[in-house]
Amino acid sequence: MHATARPILIATGLSLLTSLTLAHASADDPMTEEAKELIQEFAGQLQSELKAAIQTGGPVQAISVCKDRAPAIAAELSESSGWEVGRVSLKMRNTTLGTPDAWETRVLESFETRLANGQPVDTLSQAEVVEDDQGRAFRFMKAIPTQEVCLACHGKTIAEPVAQALDAHYPNDRARGFEVGDIRGAFTLSKPLTE
Ligand code: HEC
Repeated sequence: MHATARPILIATGLSLLTSLTLAHASADDPMTEEAKELIQEFAGQLQSELKAAIQTGGPVQAISVCKDRAPAIAAELSESSGWEVGRVSLKMRNTTLGTPDAWETRVLESFETRLANGQPVDTLSQAEVVEDDQGRAFRFMKAIPTQEVCLACHGKTIAEPVAQALDAHYPNDRARGFEVGDIRGAFTLSKPLTE
């Protein structure tokens, strides 16, 4: 998203401090609340479309939900909300949309550390005001846990027809080999700050 992100509120590496600050701030921080609501909408729509597609056509058919619907829902939400909404990962499938920038990479890495230190995967999030060459922005990320339903396309053992369909669309796919509870990636949201 932003090539040379430079956090100005919270120093690099202070993720523990950040998460404590967040825990206190989240109830009365309207930007964070807005970001969380958008993520709930995004995740909810994706999950229900994915489940329905797997039930009716199996995982090969459902690939199109992830391939076409995920970016479409993200674009619709971005358009209607004024936030930039997307998903990124340290091991991405879609190298165009899913590659994290410098700030996102650091946050994803801090999520891995926090998970390894025992923090529950579904509580990993980070809010920060970041300044880069495009100006100041409020940025928010929330980890996406790997669930059972994800394994058909992101797990260690992927059925041959599914693997073939994925190979055809994503020759540089790195989003395989995940287990339930791993961090599959994160929702990433950004809103420009004007003042
Ligand atoms: C039917 C196959 C399928 C299933 C099941 C599936 N995914 Fe994916 N996933 C994909 C495809 C295909 C993409 C690439 C989408 C694109 O081109 O933007 C993708 C991309 C992603 C991305 C974006 C980052 C990246 O790697 O490009 C995330 C995050 C993600 N999936 C999480 C999940 C989670 C969490 C689940 C389970 C709740 C899940 N997926 C289930 C096929 C699947």
